[in-house]
Amino acid sequence: MTLSSERLIVALDFADVASAREMTSRLATYDIAFKVGLELFVAQGPRVLDELREAGARRFFLDLKFHDIPNTMAGAVRSAAKEGVWMMNVHASAGSAALKRCADELTEGAGSSGLPRPILIAVTVLTSLDENALGQELGVARPIEQQVITLAKMTQECGLDGVVAPAPDARAIRSACGDAFKIVSPGIRPAGAQINDQARINTPSGAIRDGADYLVVGRPITQAADPGKACEELLREIGQAILYEPNAEKA
Ligand code: C5P
Repeated sequence: MTLSSERLIVALDFADVASAREMTSRLATYDIAFKVGLELFVAQGPRVLDELREAGARRFFLDLKFHDIPNTMAGAVRSAAKEGVWMMNVHASAGSAALKRCADELTEGAGSSGLPRPILIAVTVLTSLDENALGQELGVARPIEQQVITLAKMTQECGLDGVVAPAPDARAIRSACGDAFKIVSPGIRPAGAQINDQARINTPSGAIRDGADYLVVGRPITQAADPGKACEELLREIGQAILYEPNAEKA
């Protein structure tokens, strides 16, 4: 695995396993991670991970965003860890008791199972929520940016490894939570690429410069005429940016 391939996560946003397998087998040679989300996982169940392993995938970000009472979340995290995933996520707004239970569960589970402890990250504020939805519908009085930082700090205090955050928020989270805290950034668009439905975007090199550890990229690779070439170009750009990132030794 190269330093840049370790930083790239390709989103397998496909409804059917055949398309996800096909894309995986095209890209597995680059040793990147693959994000499996609710659509594919709910349709296919955990066996989809084995199918994608057969197609060459080695590392999975299981993007199921658990949000429930502490006992239920801890159980879900335990079950996901047994599937051997590399990274998974929960909602920070489930509260500190739930987050602590999840982090403890993973540490204990990894110790007893012999599997590596998955990276556990949290979603702070869904990027689909705007100030109005947060304030009027959910009753959160703080501005979004403040809410994101408050939840990121709580996530860190509870023993999780990091947060999902669009690249434009990475700098503020990095300065609030320090260098060891992982930032996973979607909304990545190489210069000149189609923006699609993303509102807050950054280039791969811009995201690394702003402090993102991992980049989640979907359509710029999976919908490209040549996904392999698009992946290579992205890895090249990430590689160059890593050379100049402020904290280069952390890669
Ligand atoms: O195709 P695209 O690169 O926009 O895909 C980005 C991926 O990251 C999708 O799987 C999307 O659901 C996910 N994501 C996002 N924005 C967030 C959280 C996750 O785009 N705030």
